[in-house]
Amino acid sequence: MSKKLYIKTYGCQMNVYDSLRMADVLAPLGYRAAETPEAADLVVLNTCHIREKASEKVFSELGRLRQLKAARAESGGRMMIAVAGCVAQAEGEEILRRAPQVDLVFGPQTYHRLAALVTEAARSEAGVIDTSFPSESKFDHLPEEARPQGAAAYLSIQEGCDKFCTFCVVPYTRGAEQSRPAAAVLAEARRLVAAGTREITLLGQNVNAYHGEGPGGAGPGGEVWGLGRLLFALAEIDGLARLRYTTSHPRDMDDELIAAHRDLAQVMPYLHLPVQSGSDKILAAMNRRHAAADYLRVVERLRGVRPDLALSSDFIVGFPGESDQDFAETLRLVTEVGYAQAYSFKYSPRPGTPAADVADQVPEPVKAERLAMLQSLLAEQQIAFNQGCVGQELEVLFEAEGRRGGQLLGRSPFMQAVHVAAPARLKGRLLPVRIESAHPNSLAGRLSEAAGEIGGAWRDARDAGVMEVAS
Ligand code: 5AD
Ligand code: SF4
Repeated sequence: MSKKLYIKTYGCQMNVYDSLRMADVLAPLGYRAAETPEAADLVVLNTCHIREKASEKVFSELGRLRQLKAARAESGGRMMIAVAGCVAQAEGEEILRRAPQVDLVFGPQTYHRLAALVTEAARSEAGVIDTSFPSESKFDHLPEEARPQGAAAYLSIQEGCDKFCTFCVVPYTRGAEQSRPAAAVLAEARRLVAAGTREITLLGQNVNAYHGEGPGGAGPGGEVWGLGRLLFALAEIDGLARLRYTTSHPRDMDDELIAAHRDLAQVMPYLHLPVQSGSDKILAAMNRRHAAADYLRVVERLRGVRPDLALSSDFIVGFPGESDQDFAETLRLVTEVGYAQAYSFKYSPRPGTPAADVADQVPEPVKAERLAMLQSLLAEQQIAFNQGCVGQELEVLFEAEGRRGGQLLGRSPFMQAVHVAAPARLKGRLLPVRIESAHPNSLAGRLSEAAGEIGGAWRDARDAGVMEVAS
C-alpha cells in the first residue's frame, strides 16, 4: 500500500544527503514522496543543532505539525511525526517532553534502522527514541540509492569529528570520525555516474580528515587512503567531469590533497576552507589547532598549484573574549585572502560545549556590529569576484530549470549560480557559457558558440528566441 512521506531538511548538505537516504530506506515500506506535509502520512524533520536559531526552528515547525496531526486525527486518519538529525541526537527525550505529538526521535547514526523504528512507532502509544551510536556502521546497512540524484550529486564519505572546536556541537551530535571504505565510495560514485551524474560533491563534517580503508581491504598489507588518494581514484571514472568536497579543516590539507588540486582537472577550483577567526588568541581559544599564518600558508600553497582557486570560509564573530583588536585581525585576514563567498555567524553558545561556559561572553550589540562589518567586507569581495567573471567563458553544469521559462540554472566551476537562456533538453549538460552580467549572488550569460559541439543545440536555442540574457 502506498503511503506518503514528507521530509523537511534543515542545516548542512550532510543532512540533505541523509534525507535522500532516509527516503531510500523507507521506500520498501511503500512510502513515496508527498508534495506537502498536509498530504503526508509520515513527516520527518531532519534537524540542525549547530546554532540556537537552527534548533528553535524545529520546535516552531513542530507546533504547526501538531495542528495538522490533530486535523488528520479528526478525519479518522493518522499522521506520524519524526524528528531526526542533530537536534534529535542532542535533545532526545526532551523533544518528547516539549512536543508530545512526536512519534519518533532518531539520531544521524541510526536511520538505517528507520523501517523498523517507523513500524514500532506506528504500533506504540508513546514516542519511540533511538539516539544510540551503534557499533555497526549505518553505511554497511543502507540500501543502494534508489533514485538518481541528477547532474550534481552528493556522496557522503566521512562523518563525525574528533577536533572538538570549543564552540561546536558536531563531535557530540555526529560522534567520532568515521570514514567509509574507498571501495564503497568508488562503487557508489560509479552508480551515480551511470545514472547521469556529472559532478560529485564528497561530503563529511571533516571531509579532508578522510582516512578510509583502501580497496585492498583491511588486514595485513591493507592501506589507508586519504582524501587526495581517493580523488585520484575517482578522477578515473569515465564521465565524471567534476569533483568537489566539503567541509574541510585547514589542518588536514595534506600534500596529496594539494597535488589533487594541481593534477586533476576534475577537481573544481573552489574550496570551502573555514578559518573562523583571524586572531591567534581566538583560534587558540577555539581549539582550532592552527594559527592565522598556518591558514595563510595553506592558501598560498593551494593558489601556488591552482592560481584561479576561489575560496570560501566560515567565520564566527563575538566568540567569548574576542576584543576589537581580535576582530580587526579577522578583517585583516579576509582582506589578505580575498574570498569569492563566505558564511559568517554570531557566536551562539551551545549547551554542553566548552565555550558556552566561559564568563567572558561578548554582548549582543557588539556581535551584531561586528557581523555587519564583516558581512559588508565579504559582500564587497563577492561582488568583485562575480564581476571579474564578466566576459569570461565558464563551463556551466546545468542542474535545473530556472524560475523563468526558457531558462536553465547551473553552476560555474567556482560554485556561482549561473542563469542562461537555454532549452530544457540541455539540463544535465556541461557547456561553455559566456558570462554577460554579475549579480551579488549569481551570474547570467549565454551559451557560447563553442557549444557548437552539442549538435547545434545552442543555435536552435538562439533561433527559438530564448537567447536573451536574463537579468
Ligand atoms: N556559534 C556560531 N557559529 C557556529 N558554527 C558552529 N558552531 C557555532 C556556534 N556555536 C559555525 C562555524 C562552522 C559552521 C558550520 O557553523 O563557523 O564552520
Ligand atoms: Fe565542529 Fe571544529 Fe569539527 Fe568543524 S572541525 S565539525 S567546527 S568541531
